[in-house]
Amino acid sequence: EQQTEEVEVFSTPSYACQRRTTLDNHNAVLTDALSLLAENAELSGEDGRGVAFRRAAAALKALPLPVTRLTQLGGVPCLGGHSLRVIKVLTGIFGVGVKTAGRWIGEGILTLRQLRDSGPTLNRAQRAGLRHYDDLNRPVGRAEAAAVAAVVEAAAGSVLPGARVTLIGGFRRGKQTGHDVDFLITHPEEGREAGLMPKLVSWLDSQGFLLYQKTNSNSYLEAAEGPARPASNMDRFERCFSVFKLPEEAGRGGAGAGGEGGPRPWRAVRVDLVVSPVSQFAFALLGWTGSKLFERELRRWAGHEMNMCLSSHALYDHRQSRYLRASSEEEIFAHLGLEYIPPSERNA
Ligand code: CTP
Ligand code: MN
Ligand code: MN
Ligand code: MN
Repeated sequence: EQQTEEVEVFSTPSYACQRRTTLDNHNAVLTDALSLLAENAELSGEDGRGVAFRRAAAALKALPLPVTRLTQLGGVPCLGGHSLRVIKVLTGIFGVGVKTAGRWIGEGILTLRQLRDSGPTLNRAQRAGLRHYDDLNRPVGRAEAAAVAAVVEAAAGSVLPGARVTLIGGFRRGKQTGHDVDFLITHPEEGREAGLMPKLVSWLDSQGFLLYQKTNSNSYLEAAEGPARPASNMDRFERCFSVFKLPEEAGRGGAGAGGEGGPRPWRAVRVDLVVSPVSQFAFALLGWTGSKLFERELRRWAGHEMNMCLSSHALYDHRQSRYLRASSEEEIFAHLGLEYIPPSERNA
């Protein structure tokens, strides 16, 4: 959930008799859960539903690897109905992946209500996710992104004068809505940005803007990374996954209405914050603008066609055994021997 790794999308033939299903099952958590659902359905005389669950379980059993993301299941048959819906509702909770959802289903928890009532122990992220489920599954619009930007700019300006805040992710690519709002923050003087995130977060918190936050500190070291260790795509900037409490503006009536209490004065919004030193800014900007597929293809091009290794921190040239510097995205495209493609055309 927190890293851009290569994820295989499975495609499976529809009939179990077209597939080779061995005894080693890489998705036991999910298939056990689905078998349990099948049993329950059969016990209550709903044979149709029972078979549907059995087919879904069988389709998962045939997969060569564990499923880590729901999006991998696009090409898996028999998961179109109730099974996928149950998994979808549960993984729709911020902080809940396929594995956790599978475990809960195995415990008989199929709906948000059951989750709220029967209460397995939830971690902090999951509690926030469940509490703000509707808001977090409602797309964020551009006006809301701009409102978050104003808050983040105020915070950055207050704790580190001169800090620069840039909108990244889907909104930088021109999207009208997003599942979150992403920001990259830097300071024109190298080193001044160090330790910025905790200060930013405590400012936001003190002003009542945070419903949830999890901060990771910077762990990137060029020397330690070295040419021989380009393996991980996971970047190591100071970053913060958060849920903002965004006041609804009077003018935007209606959109914020929700829940039993009628219109509310605020909504929850997922916000990602990343801090980069200015020397790595162009790489961070390129790496965090997306789309995810565009990023993946950039890295594949760099590796396979140029014998280079691209990350959100740097570009390493294996032929010359050195890092290639860049202070703009244009320069990075040039290093890669690619025509420059602006953010609005990276919506692959
Ligand atoms: N990203 C990353 N490392 C992560 C998470 C995200 O490098 N751990 C990058 C992705 O490459 C992506 C960008 O950050 O390009 C934004 O990610 P995300 O917010 O998930 O996607 P968006 O393209 O902004 O789409 P959405 O509108 O749904 O938020
Ligand atoms: Mn985003
Ligand atoms: Mn994001
Ligand atoms: Mn490859």
